[in-house]
Amino acid sequence: MTIVPVALGDRAYDILIEDGALDDAGSHLACFARRGRFLIVTDETVAGAQLPRLEGSLEAAGLAVDAIVLPPGEATKSWTQLAALTDAMLARGIERSDNVVALGGGVIGDLVGFAAAIMKRGCGFVQVPTSLLAQVDSSVGGKTAINSPAGKNLVGAFHQPSFVLIDPTTLDTLPPREVRAGYAEVVKYGLIDDPAFFAWCETEGAALLAGEPAARAHAIARSVSAKAAIVADDERETTGRRALLNLGHTFGHALEAETGFSDRLLHGEAVAAGMALAFRFSAAQGLCPATDAARVGTHLAAAGLPTTLAAAGVVASGETLVAHMAHDKKMEGGRLPFLLARGIGETYLAKDVALGDVAAFLDMELAAA
Ligand code: NAD
Ligand code: GLY
Repeated sequence: MTIVPVALGDRAYDILIEDGALDDAGSHLACFARRGRFLIVTDETVAGAQLPRLEGSLEAAGLAVDAIVLPPGEATKSWTQLAALTDAMLARGIERSDNVVALGGGVIGDLVGFAAAIMKRGCGFVQVPTSLLAQVDSSVGGKTAINSPAGKNLVGAFHQPSFVLIDPTTLDTLPPREVRAGYAEVVKYGLIDDPAFFAWCETEGAALLAGEPAARAHAIARSVSAKAAIVADDERETTGRRALLNLGHTFGHALEAETGFSDRLLHGEAVAAGMALAFRFSAAQGLCPATDAARVGTHLAAAGLPTTLAAAGVVASGETLVAHMAHDKKMEGGRLPFLLARGIGETYLAKDVALGDVAAFLDMELAAA
């Protein structure tokens, strides 16, 4: 068992990582129950694959369990589902001292976290992430949100969970494409500031993707430790350190917008292509060795992730893609901070990038496809 603390003063919490932890959730979570009861929120797919394990464990520990099951998919991060969920929580008498359990991927975690943030001005919640993306990224750090017609994650709040319980064996039922998409966020930590971890990914990534338990556990622990340190240092993304976690996201966001935020391109796939583009753009600007950019693209492609516009299924012009970027919520006074790299493990926040240069680079990428 690995425990990673998130040092946030009166909002501090632990992340527990252990194969089989879901079957022992009764003992891990009992202290977070109010009057011996838990409300679990999950989606239909995860309910079929993992809910019985969690319910069984909680009930075996003498806890009463109720579950709300929502439709799977990004569309669930909506006002409609938020309204239905908060109504259902109120109907069940949820109080501030309750900890609602979010069992699922990033969609369930983000939605339940936001519902908890606004429920009676803030109730507790526990994250039980079941996708690789959620286990290495979204369940930690307290960013919660729903989407609006104006864009993704535009309505939300910072609201930290009370506890994060990660059972890597839940990934056994996750479709391989979703595992690969989550792997992009694992690689991201190496690219940000940990070249040794990127090198580990190059040698052990295939084992992780194949579900090898030691590789999986190592990657999750290393990822959440990196994220916990960044969140403890810059919880609300004010100093720029937490912004490093957005590596690949500005390019990726444009690709997701162009593909309609749909199954055509999963979030993690967009991040993979976005990171490869960010490194090649950095190389094209003379900031980063071309060999590092090539190494990044080679590894992500070997993991079965898209690294080019063509592989991401995008044929739009640079101008069109940059227009999507201009809607990014990180825009500040008409300027968009960009994450660039001086090399593998040397990501930095650039504030002086001309969007025209980005558009010209993307046109070259499109022409090269
Ligand atoms: P998701 O929650 O839609 O899960 C992906 C798919 O896998 C869904 O169909 C889900 O039902 C299924 N699934 C999940 N766990 C499973 C399991 N163990 N077995 C079988 N099926 C399973 O998507 P995601 O990739 O987990 O998360 C993406 C979301 O996370 C996006 O909305 C993104 O904006 C958000 N996100 C948030 C943060 C944050 O810091 N809050 C960070 C990164 C991404
Ligand atoms: N996934 C980006 C963040 O949590 O800040």
